[in-house]
Amino acid sequence: MAKTNLIAGLDIGSGKMTCIAAVRDEENNILQVVAGRSIPCRGLRASVVSDIQETSSAVRHLLNSIERESGHDIGLLSVGLRGAHLESFSNHGTYNISRMDKEITQEDMALAIENAKSMPIKNDNEIVNVLTQGYAIDKQRGITNPEGMEGSLLEVDVHITTGSATHINNLRKAIERAGYQMDDKLYSLVPLADTVLTQEEKEIGALILDLGGETMSVGIYIDGILKFSRDIPYGCDLITSDLSRLLHTSRQNAKEIKEKYGVSFPSFLDEEGEIPVPSLDGRSTHNIKKSYVLDIIQPRVEELMEQVAHVVETSGYKDFPVVGVVTGGGSLMPGITDHCVNLLGLKEVRCGTVPHDMIAGDNAFFDPTYSTAMSLVVYAAGANGYESYVGSSYEKEPVLGKIGKWFKGLDIFGG
Ligand SMILES: Nc1ncnc2c1ncn2[C@@H]1O[C@H](COP(=O)(O)OP(=O)(O)O)[C@@H](O)[C@H]1O
Ligand SMILES: [Mg+2]
Repeated sequence: MAKTNLIAGLDIGSGKMTCIAAVRDEENNILQVVAGRSIPCRGLRASVVSDIQETSSAVRHLLNSIERESGHDIGLLSVGLRGAHLESFSNHGTYNISRMDKEITQEDMALAIENAKSMPIKNDNEIVNVLTQGYAIDKQRGITNPEGMEGSLLEVDVHITTGSATHINNLRKAIERAGYQMDDKLYSLVPLADTVLTQEEKEIGALILDLGGETMSVGIYIDGILKFSRDIPYGCDLITSDLSRLLHTSRQNAKEIKEKYGVSFPSFLDEEGEIPVPSLDGRSTHNIKKSYVLDIIQPRVEELMEQVAHVVETSGYKDFPVVGVVTGGGSLMPGITDHCVNLLGLKEVRCGTVPHDMIAGDNAFFDPTYSTAMSLVVYAAGANGYESYVGSSYEKEPVLGKIGKWFKGLDIFGG
């Protein structure tokens, strides 16, 4: 049986990494998850490599086990970057069409994007991804695909993410030392926001919030396009630290208490019961009231939300998001959506994950802790409805070329 190449998405998270691997069943037009796993990695701090050896051995361990479990090799590895070193901003590019025929070609579009990319970026920074927001022809805005149309002046709006070349190279090195290669890199919020938010939400104005352990990522969509994205170097592990400190128990116990009993809003306190808390040395337990856990969690969640509110305020788009979607492990905390409504001034907030019509797989992979890795796979595969997006508005020629070639020679499910 011939080997099928996997499309893998690697989420470089907070002290851990998560991988989802899928194959594309072209006959039935579905993307099927064949393996997925998350493993701890001590070489990562807030999604940035702090120890190459540790990170490299975690990558090797994780990707080898995915290949073993599925019986297939990884053919394309798309890596999601995160961290406060990433900066996103919008820019504008123009291109004058001086030919006689004036019919806009893909090359003209690429040149307009090149123009938008030619702006000063910080020393030691490199461009991570360029997202095309929309075109204008002769000042007429709102054109999504100008190819084949006539015009003299082509303009394009882009959303560019840059990141520290040092951090990116360290990660690349760690992956290469593990025997793999980073075929594609993306600021992970970009595919996440695009797959988790519905088209209606993006149109009406939506905020996406990815609540991780050591980072929170914020994105704002207005009129269907991503206008703002930013990573905040704090996350829900702070709740764990508070519980550990105030309940005098280990971080591991505190994490378990948080995930099992934690709620962040009083209306979610179902019963006035007690929770057993193991002592630091593990030799005894003491009981505390559930409401005491809420008293510890609530102020910290409010503080995290205030950080998010501050970022939204300084984004310049404060008044635009109407609805919100939270994802990532922290979104599992009951009451979190109420905090978003109250502190971010949103009308409606839901918990979200990658929808089932974009990718098929075990229900476990639709848990919000997997949503980043899932969205990386959906993007890398150009799955269900994403061809047009990848092909026209998202600039990633090197990978597209690779996927194109690869799909032609791909033997799905062997033969
Ligand atoms: N059921 C749960 N309730 C509350 N918090 C949770 C739950 N499950 C996971 N978390 C928290 O989510 C955070 C991790 O988010 P996740 O998206 O999995 O990781 P990453 O930081 O790599 O993005 C941790 O702080 C973890 O304790
Ligand atoms: Mg996450």
